[in-house]
Amino acid sequence: MKIKPLSDALGAEVIGLNYTKPLKPHEITTLKSNFLDYHLLCLRSKPLTPKQFYQLASLFGTPFTETSRFQWDENVPQISRLDSSYKTKDSKPKTPKDSRLSGWHTDHSFKKFPPKATLLHSHQVPSKAGQTRFCNTEKSYQDLPEKIKLRLNGLKAVHSYDTIRAPARPPQRTPEEIAETPDIEHPLVRVHDETGNRALYFNAGRTDRIVGLERKESDLLLDEIHEHITQKKYRYDHNWSVGDVIIWDNRCLVHSVNVDYPVGESRIHLRTLLKGKRPSGQKQN
Ligand SMILES: [Fe+2]
Repeated sequence: MKIKPLSDALGAEVIGLNYTKPLKPHEITTLKSNFLDYHLLCLRSKPLTPKQFYQLASLFGTPFTETSRFQWDENVPQISRLDSSYKTKDSKPKTPKDSRLSGWHTDHSFKKFPPKATLLHSHQVPSKAGQTRFCNTEKSYQDLPEKIKLRLNGLKAVHSYDTIRAPARPPQRTPEEIAETPDIEHPLVRVHDETGNRALYFNAGRTDRIVGLERKESDLLLDEIHEHITQKKYRYDHNWSVGDVIIWDNRCLVHSVNVDYPVGESRIHLRTLLKGKRPSGQKQN
């Protein structure tokens, strides 16, 4: 088993393990501690079955079923099969901004209990582009001047299923669907429930406003945060190989997709999300 950093910003790759068989206890401990240290692990693997992928994900937490039932695997509903291929020219966004996937986000932040981590496992990859890109919001928080840290630490942000700030808006929903997803407040600076480290908790497609600020002032601050956290020095772009399993930490990373891949080429992943705690701005004992 070898662990090698993937970039200066975040992430490490793990080579030499076979995920079709149970791992040894010391291998599991090493994977878990490296996940917390690097925020993202790329486990180099052969393609796994949904059941094998579920078992691997379960080493890190509790996988749960997603809302879109049509994507569920028929035997393991906690695993979704995502087909992001463009079958026709019209299905490809005219510009990346038209796709919600290309915006920088942390998964499901409109929920009271957002998933602590996401796992993606590639089964088919296009010949170019299609990278999943990540930025380290713990590092970008640490680099802020103390005065700014102090100011941001006391702030809360409203996360909404839909916001006028989103670069691409979600499809229209029924009143029932809207009622199911009320706005939720999260701390702007989140304390990681396992490491105790602080990170900026921001989602370009969901963070609507800062509680207590006028819209103009709130927009200005959120724009500054967006610009700060997405600088090159905090970023790693992952070029997918078939079989890669990526697990990333939604508590201290944001991610986006380079959606400019060729029409007619398959891009297929298995995905699962791991249950998370309510984001907190305070250290827990
Ligand atoms: Fe995502």
